[in-house]
Amino acid sequence: MLSNKLDGPRRGRSFDSINKSYEEKQLNNEDSQVKLLHIESRKSRRRNSELEVLVDCDSDRETLKDIVQLLRKQTSIITMDSPDKFWTPANDLAEVPWFPKKISDLDKSACRVLMYGSDLDADHPGFKDNIYRKRRKYFADLAMSYKHGEPIPRVEFTEEEVKTWGVVFRELNKLYPTHACREYLNNLPLLTQFCGYREDNIPQLEDVSTFLRERTGFTIRPVAGYLSPRDFLAGLAFRVFHCTQYVRHSSDPLYTPEPDTCHELLGHVPLLAEPSFAQFSQELGLASLGASDDAVQKLATCYFFTVEFGLCKQEGSLRAYGAGLLSSISELKHSLSGSAKILSFEPNVTCKQECLITTFQDVYFVSESFEEAKFRMREFAKTIQRPFSLRYNPYTQSVCVLKDMPSINDVVEELRHELDIVGDALCRLSAHLGV
Ligand SMILES: [Fe+2]
Repeated sequence: MLSNKLDGPRRGRSFDSINKSYEEKQLNNEDSQVKLLHIESRKSRRRNSELEVLVDCDSDRETLKDIVQLLRKQTSIITMDSPDKFWTPANDLAEVPWFPKKISDLDKSACRVLMYGSDLDADHPGFKDNIYRKRRKYFADLAMSYKHGEPIPRVEFTEEEVKTWGVVFRELNKLYPTHACREYLNNLPLLTQFCGYREDNIPQLEDVSTFLRERTGFTIRPVAGYLSPRDFLAGLAFRVFHCTQYVRHSSDPLYTPEPDTCHELLGHVPLLAEPSFAQFSQELGLASLGASDDAVQKLATCYFFTVEFGLCKQEGSLRAYGAGLLSSISELKHSLSGSAKILSFEPNVTCKQECLITTFQDVYFVSESFEEAKFRMREFAKTIQRPFSLRYNPYTQSVCVLKDMPSINDVVEELRHELDIVGDALCRLSAHLGV
């Protein structure tokens, strides 16, 4: 779609007749895919005997070219108000991969599970355990039938599952004081207080989701297994984190070949309760919407080396904030042992690093702070080719494609209002301080 302003003087013709002419020809013809947004006539500034007609319409480039040719036969002058300035990408969206526009659209993508779910590979620890497989089917069905807006079903975990969780919880908690970042350590006690994080209790995703919503606006959505990077990152754009609800196989509580609820609850959730980290995560997600496969892969790699395996510097020492580290005793120790290779997080470099799933990472990336990581990701996101800009609307939980001047003006108006609030607050503060 295109929003273009056509401006042409018409000699001795009335608005009505011109409008009729447009309609009779092609401008508002359904076949031509042109939508008239606005039309008005006015006295020409060039000559008194002339009339100017301003037409604002939506069309694709080719149709617009045809219309201009058509108009040239009847009009002495046609000026287009900088077509590229008003070119909007809606028509180009046909080439753009599908992406959710509103939070409930995640219902369409959350079921596209690539791996695991209820099917386990032959080398999965639970592959030969029929009871475990049946249990996994139960969790997969819960996740697959979940719809946005519903409460996440509460699960009665088995004694065996609680015992497995308990081992992971106990062992990791021994390492957190010396290995986890400050934000993680600040939030973990809150999760104990409000969500039942205890060695003898597996927290319910619904309670965690309610807690996160109040802290950062993030919510949890149950998922049966691995999603594609595109579908997973899309959830982050809406501050939705897809979480598995099943527990790893009890044969080896300290190993899992896939994310399980221990990984989600202990690795991810404490950081999702941190506003700056939540913002960083959402921006990663927003950058992925409608991006090319290549760009999504780069963003997914950046996600992997930050949200999953990221390190940060605090009070002169390295700390972990990545969920893959904070839910793995051996790799958490390894990453901060002094023997691991550490590089500065630089999206252009990080996005080329190979992600390793079954072994420790060859390299870990460190950021000075989430703010710094966010700034670098923002700069990187600007280099991603996408024929439009997006803005998240937290009131409607939807993304707005900034495709024309009216949609951009709406943002400007909102920003103006926000700045008014800031200005008012500064005035009050100044008065209070007597400055
Ligand atoms: Fe994860």
